[in-house]
Amino acid sequence: MLIECQDLTKIYKTGDVETAALRGISLTIEKGEFVSIIGPSGSGKSTLMHILGALDTPTSGQFFLENADVSTLDDDALSELRRSKIGFVFQSFNLLPRATVLRNVMLPLLYLNIGEMQRKQKALAALKSAGLEEDRYYNLSNQLSGGQMQRVSIARALINNPAIILADEPTGNLDTKTSQVIMEALCRLHKNGHTIILITHEAEIAAYSERIISIRDGIIESDKKNAKRLN
Ligand SMILES: Nc1ncnc2c1ncn2[C@@H]1O[C@H](COP(=O)(O)OP(=O)(O)OP(=O)(O)O)[C@@H](O)[C@H]1O
Ligand SMILES: [Mg+2]
Repeated sequence: MLIECQDLTKIYKTGDVETAALRGISLTIEKGEFVSIIGPSGSGKSTLMHILGALDTPTSGQFFLENADVSTLDDDALSELRRSKIGFVFQSFNLLPRATVLRNVMLPLLYLNIGEMQRKQKALAALKSAGLEEDRYYNLSNQLSGGQMQRVSIARALINNPAIILADEPTGNLDTKTSQVIMEALCRLHKNGHTIILITHEAEIAAYSERIISIRDGIIESDKKNAKRLN
């Protein structure tokens, strides 16, 4: 079992106001699955993703990643876990604008004990897997289109060979055609054995995954195999 969550809750406190963003989420995800988490705005998708990505801890409940209990880890252990096991893809790409594509992708390897040549080789392989055109590798990232930027951020997510790729609205800033290109890139990674958890509020995007978990008001409304899968 790659991921196991038991009765996760998350309560945000702002002043005297409490918001129950998650109200008892239990789920398991196996290695190699391509899962979408879908739900309307405010349903708790990003909150759940932050917990699954070890960016935040639940108020109560348990989260096991590769059978290790993550709910009890301290900040240092959480950040180590993120570095080694999770590749993030965000709606806003989060690239360094004045660095080249290749530099952006190599960045997560900077603090590891790996030589420049090897880092470059890994980055080139990741960019190829993410499907970015080769003539873009030495562009500055702010010279790219949105779809190209997102393929760079997918490559960056892949570079550490993470156990999970977590994508929060990866097509949120992209037009329909470009969204398709990104979803096809994620489908290819899935076929090559990667585990992908995708957060979206769009049914057309969730349609690419093999399992769709629907959440509403912080609880799971349905969890189904996607019979009409695209691709
Ligand atoms: N840091 C925070 N402090 C207080 N309340 C928060 C915080 N983050 C989220 N919330 C609240 O928790 C609930 C769930 O938010 P969350 O961001 O998880 O929703 P979402 O499903 O990702 O929505 P969207 O589709 O708009 O991104 C919302 O009511 C939101 O206002
Ligand atoms: Mg969100």
